[in-house]
Amino acid sequence: MVDAVGTVHIVKGAGLEDLIRAARETAGAAAVDYCLGGAGDESTVGRNTAAIDRLVFVPRVLRAPGEPDLSVRVTGGELAAPLLVSPMGLQGLYHRGAEVETARAAASLGLGHCLSAFSSAGPAEVAAGAGPGLRWRQVYVLRDWELTRHLVEQAEEGGFRAVVCTVDVPVVGRRDRDRANGFDRFSVEPPAIVHSAAFKRLHRERGGDPRDVLDSVFPYPESTWDDVGRVIASTGLPVLVKGILHPDDARRAHELGAAGVIVSNHGGRQLDRCVSSIEALPAVHRAVGDVIPVYFDSGVRTGTHVALALALGARAVLVGRPLLLALAAGGEEQVAARLEDMVSDLGHTMRLVGAASPAGLRRINVLGTGPGL
Ligand code: FNR
Repeated sequence: MVDAVGTVHIVKGAGLEDLIRAARETAGAAAVDYCLGGAGDESTVGRNTAAIDRLVFVPRVLRAPGEPDLSVRVTGGELAAPLLVSPMGLQGLYHRGAEVETARAAASLGLGHCLSAFSSAGPAEVAAGAGPGLRWRQVYVLRDWELTRHLVEQAEEGGFRAVVCTVDVPVVGRRDRDRANGFDRFSVEPPAIVHSAAFKRLHRERGGDPRDVLDSVFPYPESTWDDVGRVIASTGLPVLVKGILHPDDARRAHELGAAGVIVSNHGGRQLDRCVSSIEALPAVHRAVGDVIPVYFDSGVRTGTHVALALALGARAVLVGRPLLLALAAGGEEQVAARLEDMVSDLGHTMRLVGAASPAGLRRINVLGTGPGL
């Protein structure tokens, strides 16, 4: 039954069901469950996409003739279209090419990529293997400042254009599928960070199994806004705060010097019974959207979904699970095909609603948003 629920949540958008089937064959059922799954009864996973689907455009006509210009300025540079790959750890579970291939697929289309703190391929490997492209590096505040700082340093050295500090994992969400499968992600696929000198130093200090050392630094439930401030103060790179749903948290991030925020509920993998990301977007945009860019993820499955998020204030949108499934199903080529389809759908939607550019979408009315915060 869990399976059927997960499939319903994820299949929005042509071909996703096929991708799930193919991914199960290549990566195995437990890894696909790890990708599809969410916290608790997965209500938030479902709500993320369902809430976007409740929205409708009020289109304008004869206002934006010709080919729309999808390009957009984001933190750290320009993208051909307002789309990035969400940070997702351990992509080696899904394909040998792992993050190098998702990054290469994004770069081949002029789109962005965000590399997880717990990636299978390290930042240097991605930087070397994926060629030029706009990439962000996600970090967590860990219970060891030197290791946290090491993650940031890798971003600086690897030519990443921004640091994304994820703040919605004080504890890891309760994911029933993983428990039922006995799936321990770090045992199956150790992240690249364990090979770093900074981690080896910690391992020498603490001894024991490297997985226990990792568990001792992440998650770090005692971390606070001061730690986020410390990350921001430690680097010349712009820092985006990911996992923001409340306007006051967005203001706090801005006050601390964040270069932007990412409205996200981690794809429903953390708090179950959580506001959907799209329901939270308008209020966050009203709070800080005039001063810093607001990015968005969780539940986006089609280019039309991207257009709706842009209309509600997102500067650009990150997409997660569909791209990981595509990676499993066919590596870089499938990821690029999926991204290309979303970009084409977005351009098509922009013509039909009468928007010549992503900024133009902001002037298109959307019905169906709730009263908000
Ligand atoms: C994630 N996500 C995530 N986020 C993050 O900041 N750091 C991470 O390491 C991971 N790892 C991760 C692994 C897997 C398998 C998934 C599916 C997701 C969350 C991710 O960045 C993003 O917020 C959601 O995936 C977006 O929702 P959709 O597009 O998957 O619905």
